[in-house]
Amino acid sequence: MTTRLILEICNVRHVYATGSNGLAGCSLNIRQGSRNALLGANGSGKTTLLQQLNGLLRPTSGAILIDGAPLDYSRNGLAALRRRVGLVFQNPDRQLFSASVCEDVSFGPLNLGLDEAEVRERVAQSLAAVGMTAMAERPVHHLSFGQKKRVCIAGVLAMRPEVLLLDEPMAGLDGAAQTELLAVLDDLSGRGITIVLSTHDVDFAYRWADDIHVLAAGRCIASFDAGRLPEQEVALQAAGQSLPAVVELCRVLVARGMLPPTAAAPRSLDQLAASLADMPSRHFVETLPLGAAAHSYCDGRRGWTRRH
Ligand SMILES: Nc1ncnc2c1ncn2[C@@H]1O[C@H](COP(=O)(O)OP(=O)(O)O)[C@@H](O)[C@H]1O
Ligand SMILES: [Mg+2]
Repeated sequence: MTTRLILEICNVRHVYATGSNGLAGCSLNIRQGSRNALLGANGSGKTTLLQQLNGLLRPTSGAILIDGAPLDYSRNGLAALRRRVGLVFQNPDRQLFSASVCEDVSFGPLNLGLDEAEVRERVAQSLAAVGMTAMAERPVHHLSFGQKKRVCIAGVLAMRPEVLLLDEPMAGLDGAAQTELLAVLDDLSGRGITIVLSTHDVDFAYRWADDIHVLAAGRCIASFDAGRLPEQEVALQAAGQSLPAVVELCRVLVARGMLPPTAAAPRSLDQLAASLADMPSRHFVETLPLGAAAHSYCDGRRGWTRRH
C-alpha cells in the first residue's frame, strides 16, 4: 500500500436545510489502497461524510480533494467522480430499483454508454466478485437483505471504481452474511480498491481496518493506524466508544502474567486464542494461583522441573 492520498477532507462543514449540522469542520485523509473505518456513534456525521465523498452532498464550507484536486461539482465532473468513487447505501432498498439482479447491475455501465458485450462482461465479473452469479435472473424483491447488499456492491463494482464507500455495511446482517461480506471486502481490498466504511462497532473496526477515523459531533477527533487503537482511549471515550473487547481481555491477561507484556497485541479474539495457544502451558501453571500440589502434579505428568 502506498502512502499516496487519494481523498483529502479539509475542514468540511455541512449544514442541512433544516439548520442541523451534519459536519462541523471535519478533516481527514484517505490513503490509496487502504481499508478505512469511520467510527462513531449515531449522529456523529458518518453518513453525511460518505455522501460528501461521492458528491451527493456538497460542503457548506471547506473542500474535498481527490488526487490533490478539488472535487468538480459540474455535471460532467460529478459523473466522472462517481465512476471513481462508488457509494453503497446503508439501506439496499434505497439503491435497488430494477426488476432483476442482472438489470440492476447493468444500469450503471449502460448509463456510461458502454457497448453490450462490455456491459455483459462487467455485470458477470461484478456478480462473481460478490458471489451472486447464480442469482443473476432473480427478481430483486425475492432476495434476502444480505443478498440485496451484495447486489448493491456489484452495481457499484460494475463502474470499476477506485474507491468503494459503504455505509454501515454490517448493520442488519447475521453472522454468516457478515462473514460472506467480509470475504468480498477482503477480495476487493486485495485487488487494490480503497475501502471506506462507516461503523459504530469498535471491535469490527479494530479487527478489519488499516486506518481508523473517529467521528464525534461532525468532526474527526482522531485518525490513526488501527494497530495503535489501544493508545486512543481518550478519543474513543469522547466519541462514546469503549475499547474493543479483545484489548480489554489482553490487558487482564497481561496484568495476571498470562501473556507477556511485549506480545504483539492481537486484533481479534481468534488472534488472541492463537497467541494463547502458542504460550507454553507451563506459563499458565506458574502464573495461576495454584498450590504446590498442582505444580507437583504437573511436574509428575510432564516431567517439568519446578523453579522456586
Ligand atoms: N437529511 C437530513 N436532514 C437534516 N439533518 C440531518 C439529515 N441527515 C442527517 N442529519 C443530521 O446530521 C447529523 C449527522 O448525521 P449522520 O451523518 O446521519 O450521522 P451518522 O451516519 O453518523 O449517524 C445528525 O445530527 C443528524 O440529525
Ligand atoms: Mg449513518
